[in-house]
Amino acid sequence: MAILPILTAPDPRLKAKAARVEAVDDEVRRLMDDMLETMYAAPGIGLAAPQVGVGKRVVVIDTGKTEAERNPLRMANPEIIAVSDEDNTYEEGCLSVPEHYASVVRPKTVRVRFLDHQNEIRELDLDGILATVVQHEVDHLDGVLFIDHLSSLRRNMILRKLVKSRKEAVAVR
Ligand code: NI
Repeated sequence: MAILPILTAPDPRLKAKAARVEAVDDEVRRLMDDMLETMYAAPGIGLAAPQVGVGKRVVVIDTGKTEAERNPLRMANPEIIAVSDEDNTYEEGCLSVPEHYASVVRPKTVRVRFLDHQNEIRELDLDGILATVVQHEVDHLDGVLFIDHLSSLRRNMILRKLVKSRKEAVAVR
């Protein structure tokens, strides 16, 4: 396994639509494992392949708070096939939008269909933080970041700060 570099906004690769995988083969399984290792190291609770520069519809999720509570989900071609009428609001963050957080309203429960790491079609009903995370990660596959759910004023303010902090990081190097 390997820890992969995580892209940060504004990077055009984060705005691209990712391609479906034909099947979950050894190459996709290796990508899933590398993404999990990268996510745990960050640390984060979800990661989508475009965040590591891979334009494939692959996501990994684990909301376990400790190593003992780990329960990784590996998904290829995830699709949200049903959502609840009821909404939920979570304070979201993103490894590609470091150090910025904002409340995002999304459906409270979702049903997701995906290919698992054995290339089997599965469906899961998710609620709570898992429902939010899977919607956040599927958004990444369509080039959508959580800041795209905010007002353009708020989004542009965050993007300006990210560009500024990146320039400062380069300057002190
Ligand atoms: Ni994210």
